[in-house]
Amino acid sequence: MGKTAEPQNISVLLDEKRRFPPPKGFQKSAWANDQSVYAEAAKDPEAYWARWASELTWTKPWKKVLEWKPPFAKWFVGGKLNASVNCLDRHVYASESDYSRRNKAAIIWEGEPGDTRVMTYWDLYRGVNKFANVLRKLKIKKGDRVAIYMPMVPEAAIACLASARIGAVHNVVFGGFSAESLSDRINDSKVKLVITADFGWRRGKPIALKQAVDDALKSTDCVENVVVVERNHGRGESPIQCHIEEGRDHWWHRLMDDAEAYAEPEEMDAEDMLFILYTSGTTGKPKGIVHTTGGYMTGVYATTKWVFDMKEDDVFWCTADIGWVTGHSYVIYGPLANGSTVFMYEGAPDWPEKNRFWKLIEKYGITIFYTAPTAIRAFMKWGTEWVDKADLSSLRLLGSVGEPINSEAWMWYHNHIGKGKCPIVDTWWQTETGAIMVTPLAGITTTKPGSATRAFPGISAEVLNEKGEVVKEGGGYIAITKPWPSMLRTIYGDEQRYIDTYWSKWGKGTYFPGDGVRRDKDGYFWFMGRVDDVMNVAGHRIGTMEVESALVDHKSVAEAAVVAKTHEIKGQAIYAFVTLKHGIEGTASLIDELKKHVATKIGAIARPEDIVFSADLPKTRSGKIMRRLLRDIAEGKALGDTTTLADPAVVENLRKQYESLEGS
Ligand code: WT7
Repeated sequence: MGKTAEPQNISVLLDEKRRFPPPKGFQKSAWANDQSVYAEAAKDPEAYWARWASELTWTKPWKKVLEWKPPFAKWFVGGKLNASVNCLDRHVYASESDYSRRNKAAIIWEGEPGDTRVMTYWDLYRGVNKFANVLRKLKIKKGDRVAIYMPMVPEAAIACLASARIGAVHNVVFGGFSAESLSDRINDSKVKLVITADFGWRRGKPIALKQAVDDALKSTDCVENVVVVERNHGRGESPIQCHIEEGRDHWWHRLMDDAEAYAEPEEMDAEDMLFILYTSGTTGKPKGIVHTTGGYMTGVYATTKWVFDMKEDDVFWCTADIGWVTGHSYVIYGPLANGSTVFMYEGAPDWPEKNRFWKLIEKYGITIFYTAPTAIRAFMKWGTEWVDKADLSSLRLLGSVGEPINSEAWMWYHNHIGKGKCPIVDTWWQTETGAIMVTPLAGITTTKPGSATRAFPGISAEVLNEKGEVVKEGGGYIAITKPWPSMLRTIYGDEQRYIDTYWSKWGKGTYFPGDGVRRDKDGYFWFMGRVDDVMNVAGHRIGTMEVESALVDHKSVAEAAVVAKTHEIKGQAIYAFVTLKHGIEGTASLIDELKKHVATKIGAIARPEDIVFSADLPKTRSGKIMRRLLRDIAEGKALGDTTTLADPAVVENLRKQYESLEGS
């Protein structure tokens, strides 16, 4: 396990003695209220998942629950359904469900400047139907790819659901990614239409998304139309200029004005693609993770209901951006399939002041709050005075996702946000898994700070060692040993990479997620971080190779090696070791320029925290860069074995340089 990143101190973890049983009363009213749910699911996982699937609305029943030809799974074979119907139609027509939710709030939204909107299920239903007709009019049909590059506004959810309604495949690209990242993703999946906004607010500044789309489209030739949401439509003047290219670009509101009210949903096969979402891997090229309709909807529906114990009157706030899988599964599809009320916020947590989140929780009576450890650590640093002023008594359940949560952050979350009375669900999963995989169930699981506890019922997770032997207690790799409904189906356009990345470590039947984990004597999982060359910066996955390619793309750079270093708030931060081309001097202004270059190439989230210039990089005799040594240098650790190095002096020099930088 030499490569395992250690975001928290293992001995601290294993010494953790604190236990938090479900609060009194919680169990009685919880959906999952008895330990027997685990055994019941394990007895016959297919029957268990079929029970969940049957809570969705299907136009044709499936013939077979699972067809498993490792590593290719088909779930609910022959079944037909539509994701938007499951999120909308069945809630607005009483005949389709137990009762009508047509006047219930589906999305409560607040923009960063404080503007607000409430969309009932009926409003959302109408918006989605109309926009589905808009897409059809722009010649988008079943199977076509649509890119969504938007701020956190309700139209982002409408765009996804409308795409799903007509059977198009959405490819959401996080609005913080650069124009170049956007065009790469557009080209890889041959996108025909882009949906964007003129701008979105972030820390009081307008972020010009449409401008980035214009730049991106200079290096793509597959996009025929662009639909542009006017962020301030009906709310006064826009703070920025927005170019509209005749014949290609269209204002959203104009198209919607002319759209018909009802769009017949496309009948989708359970295995028809619902979306592609790109995520970083160990090469420079992001992977287009493919999710299909029936299994994905079943997974997100089930986990939303049981993990968050979602009830009719809950107001659920998942702080993730729609550009990440968490936004797909727990802002849109999971909660809306449950008929829940979702709260959505556009901007930054510290704008205009560091109490924005707490004011929002108080104002909207949020009952379930789901965020990332990196945010929690920032809140800790800002101090409790920001929290204490707000009334957080509406909260009843808290969630964490994206990276390991250290026990201090867990305790702070528990005491200061949950006021000691809200259960915390630390949920482990991935873009690839589609839905939550390892998590407490708030009504029945006794939690331990820092542990994601147990596999969700119906999910088979084990700790395996390198050889694939089961580790009952101790460290190893997390493995998923049986297929599950919301699993990825492939990597878009690269089946071989799908097989190689996920299903080759221990054979074709066992999924390799790439995380290090420890299992304690109670069988609880303690996630330790990635074991591959993937970093987790503020809960976002970034590949070391991606950043390295961005650096060597700069005219002054000869070679680059990137590693992650433990960071107090972000969990990990990016450190780059760079050798410059002959005759180029490593100045402070070049460091700034290179940081900026990476941000322009990939996006601000990939900007290195620090860059160290070096005449050489440590390499093995066969020429491989030894990242482990660089990590040790960045962490200030005693250096490991350097005997395999071609030139041990390189490391010593690097370390001296790094230390002088730290001291400066
Ligand atoms: C990677 C997946 C899944 C939503 C957001 C990230 C890390 C995620 C946890 C957790 C420890 C976690 C893993 C995983 N991760 N949740 N609760 N505890 N680590 O999705 O970008 O696909 O990243 O995030 O390392 O492999 P993603």
